[in-house]
Amino acid sequence: MPTIGLGVYQNIQCAQAVTAALKHGYTHVDSARLYKNETQVGVGIKAAGADRSKLFISKSFVDSLQNLKYGLEGTREPLGSSDYYDLYLLHSPHGGKELRLKAYRGLLEAKKKGLVRTVGVSNYGPKHIEEIREAGLELPAVNQVELHPLDQQKPIAEYCKKHNILVQAYTPLLRFNFSGDKDGVIQSVADKIQKSVAQVLVRWSLQHGFVPLPKSEHEERIKANAQVYGWAIPAEEMARLDALDKGDDGAVTWNPIHMD
Ligand SMILES: NC(=O)c1ccc[n+]([C@@H]2O[C@H](COP(=O)([O-])OP(=O)(O)OC[C@H]3O[C@@H](n4cnc5c(N)ncnc54)[C@H](OP(=O)(O)O)[C@@H]3O)[C@@H](O)[C@H]2O)c1
Repeated sequence: MPTIGLGVYQNIQCAQAVTAALKHGYTHVDSARLYKNETQVGVGIKAAGADRSKLFISKSFVDSLQNLKYGLEGTREPLGSSDYYDLYLLHSPHGGKELRLKAYRGLLEAKKKGLVRTVGVSNYGPKHIEEIREAGLELPAVNQVELHPLDQQKPIAEYCKKHNILVQAYTPLLRFNFSGDKDGVIQSVADKIQKSVAQVLVRWSLQHGFVPLPKSEHEERIKANAQVYGWAIPAEEMARLDALDKGDDGAVTWNPIHMD
């Protein structure tokens, strides 16, 4: 899986953003039915003239429980009926254990039929993944959760590492809401190493082994946000960022990881 993906939540200029991202070296787009811009993702890919086989397109499906079949069929529309998704995620643990497992089994069936290549979950806490393990099912390849220096999701990250589940970091830029970083540590690290705040946040995620999914609809930002290779955040600056963790109190989105 590529190390960075373009997020497209609330991406009004989605098609242009996807085209720009592919032009600037991204090969991974994180989409979702909830975002209602799947067609635009397909338009952006076509406009870029990209080789589909070299791309990694993932999608979350929020209404998985009642409408899994529809979701899987709908999934193929934007990119053409012969197309596929590289990763298909259950968007959240909403719905209770029975429905969660039903939806997950549905995804495994879809994988068997070749509709999706890899199966993942999103916003799953360890207890939700344990349900899958206890049911004797294949574990998800990915768990996508809100993750950045202010909410490092340590119990989830540790659990996923132990079970060989890759963690994708959503909202890696904290939606540019830094009110929780009262001492301006992120800005100060950026100033010190002469990188942008966005680059520091993306790089922090990579150095921890996560797959960050920064969103932007501006070409220059899309390009700059991925210029995170060939340099590293030094250990002492990483330690300052690591010390910002507030657990759940640092979350800036819905973060439904504790759902029953
Ligand atoms: N599974 C889930 O439940 C879930 C939940 C939330 C998000 N996600 C995924 O994760 C992706 C990213 O998360 P997110 O969209 O919540 O937030 P994010 O990537 O942390 O932040 C996006 C915000 O930062 C701004 N931004 C980006 N680069 C910038 C730069 N270099 N300088 C200044 N501002 C910059 C963007 O504005 P502009 O666009 O105007 O540049 C936008 O307002 C989503 O798009 C989605 O794919 C998944």
